[in-house]
Amino acid sequence: GKGHKDLLSPDRILNVAHRGASGHAPEHTIVAYQLAKKMKADYIEIDLQMTKDGHLIAMHDETLDRTTNGTGLVKDHTLAEIKRLDAGSWFNEAYPDKAKPDYKGLKVPTLDEVLHHFGHSANYYIETKAPEIYPGMEEKLLKTLEAHRLIGKHAKRGKVIIQSFSPESLKKIHALNPEIPLVTLLWYENEQGHITKRELDEIKTYAIGVGANFDRIDRAYVQKVRKSGLLFHPYTVNEKPDMKRMLDWGATGMFTNYADRLTDLLKKN
Ligand code: G3P
Ligand code: CA
Repeated sequence: GKGHKDLLSPDRILNVAHRGASGHAPEHTIVAYQLAKKMKADYIEIDLQMTKDGHLIAMHDETLDRTTNGTGLVKDHTLAEIKRLDAGSWFNEAYPDKAKPDYKGLKVPTLDEVLHHFGHSANYYIETKAPEIYPGMEEKLLKTLEAHRLIGKHAKRGKVIIQSFSPESLKKIHALNPEIPLVTLLWYENEQGHITKRELDEIKTYAIGVGANFDRIDRAYVQKVRKSGLLFHPYTVNEKPDMKRMLDWGATGMFTNYADRLTDLLKKN
């Protein structure tokens, strides 16, 4: 509940707005992040990619194709080129029932722009995507966070959480700054999710939590993670019955495209 000051307390359920309020507005746009705040999400989730000229931008895919009117790899385009693209019209076309004229022509934001826009009024749950194709991504991320005073001695603990599917990327960040809370992401494709005590102990050497796809885990999995002392944040949980089940099993928060639904559910608990 809202009574807990410490964002990282295991008693606090974190509502993480996956790519912003991406069930309602074009993902990874300022508008989607604003809506997430309005829906009382605890965190804005931001996926990072890096442009040809070394700017960190908020985008899920390594390619421009799905969420803009551009094509090709992010890493082959400069920020100036990406800024000319429309990051909203695809949503109107894909979801006519949710379309809004205002979404047309929305721009791809840089990480710096997002942090400038929301400052200390939001918490950020940031993912290093494809770090193996973006050398220097981690250093750039920490420099940007420092410039906005979102990490370091004046920042509130938990203001920023960094997540990745790459343990190497998280370990690099941990070596640069061991104070930043990190969450390691796991993905179980067709198999039932399993995790060993040994794996959890290894994760605990650098991270405070684990994230996994909610549809391949069970109560025993969640409780094993929780007993090890790690937080557990399943993704991407969009339906209320699934949200309820995750909470019942012991999840300490979750990623959702519908922060409004989770806010509503938590109000009733
Ligand atoms: O970061 C948690 C979840 O977002 C991982 O999946 O592909 O949506 O980044 P993805
Ligand atoms: Ca993500």
